[in-house]
Amino acid sequence: MKKSLYLLSALALTATLAACGDNVEENDANADNEMNNVNNNDMNEENNDLDEEEDNHNEEAADDDGETVTLTYARGADDTPANELLIEAFEEEHPHIEIDMMDLPNDTGDQHDHYVTSLSAQDSEIDVFDADVIWPAEFAQADYVMELDRFIEQDDIDMDEYFPGTVEAGNFDGRQWAMPKFSDAGVLYYRTDILDEAPATWEELIEVAEESQGEADTSYSYLMQGDQYEGLVTNAIEFIAAYGGEVVDDENNVVIESDETIRGLEVMAEIYQADFVPNNINSFQEPETDNAFVEGESVMARNWPYMQSIVNDEEQSQVAGDVEIAALPEGDETAAATLGGWQTMINRYSEHPEEAWELVKFMTGEEGQKITAIEGGSPPTLEHLYEDDEVQEASELFADPEFVETLQNAVPRPVSPIYPELSDIMQIEISRAMAGDISPEEAAQNMQEDMEAAMED
Ligand code: GLC
Repeated sequence: MKKSLYLLSALALTATLAACGDNVEENDANADNEMNNVNNNDMNEENNDLDEEEDNHNEEAADDDGETVTLTYARGADDTPANELLIEAFEEEHPHIEIDMMDLPNDTGDQHDHYVTSLSAQDSEIDVFDADVIWPAEFAQADYVMELDRFIEQDDIDMDEYFPGTVEAGNFDGRQWAMPKFSDAGVLYYRTDILDEAPATWEELIEVAEESQGEADTSYSYLMQGDQYEGLVTNAIEFIAAYGGEVVDDENNVVIESDETIRGLEVMAEIYQADFVPNNINSFQEPETDNAFVEGESVMARNWPYMQSIVNDEEQSQVAGDVEIAALPEGDETAAATLGGWQTMINRYSEHPEEAWELVKFMTGEEGQKITAIEGGSPPTLEHLYEDDEVQEASELFADPEFVETLQNAVPRPVSPIYPELSDIMQIEISRAMAGDISPEEAAQNMQEDMEAAMED
């Protein structure tokens, strides 16, 4: 591999991540494939030209006697400074509302279980919480959360300003239960001091990974989320969809058992079992991925866009300036990214629904989303923010129309109140196939049978 050393000096300060292709089918996609360029030093600067509008509501929200209301806001541990800055900005504009942050584990499944325990007990401790896009249907059906339509109407929030997929993720039974905080889609990070361009196909990725292992003191060529948890499902769906498979069809029938799924899982297993991924890839979640990558241990990594803000932060990263972002490679059918993202919900038993709504509105409104995008590297759900100068300046990924297309074409997971059960089935079978305990054929067959049975119950 040819090395491009110019980046080391020229970009020592202004780290450049490049970006993400989308579901491009062309093979000359390496140029196209380079979608973004995140200029992350900017990511830690601005966030505070907050508009003052919120103050009006602030007064309405405060108790009549002017007493301070304290809300508990829970969310998963964040490797970026975004959440804290978000709360600082909110409190500054809402002097009568104080926020207690509750840190939950980063693993979305562990967070989910914590909320289910607390919310099913009708505990009022948590007022507002971040919800993975896979939860709203379940939480709405279980009556854990407040319906938000009356607030949305009262404040004239135009839901058409958000990407439709992110609004749908928070909608169940025709009502809105969650507001979209940020969106997500899997992307490929690669070292520009080792590779000239990102691999265009998964087969090419395997080749490049084998050839480049050990360069620039790396130990590995590829990192993914291989632990048995939700992240494994999101990685697997990318392989399955890239080779033309689907988990459920448009009518929500389980159709996971197919030659395409088997092919996708075969390629995934080949990578999972390769010498160029860590031996303990079966314990890798997102934080392990970003740690190893910023330590300079790997040539490439699959992760979500948030990692751009860490990778390019010179204080935390040994590879700042040497990383670009591209679309995930293509399989036989297309290039596919799984749709992720986080929403914000209000506990049905919150004792401060009005104030809770103020927080939700702030975090999912323009000002809050800009903080999350600029400081946290996570993609806005408000479409017009991709045209915003500050957002574009903070991340070339967000300035790249191909990335916006990737987000819009990203593959959703099944929308179902029993999603956790479906996910558990996938987690178990995919893990077994990755470990080589069962074949991809058996995994596909088991998933088909068990998921169908779960849906019928
Ligand atoms: C990211 C995604 C989320 C997904 C999770 C899996 O946080 O936004 O949707 O479930 O990763 O680890």
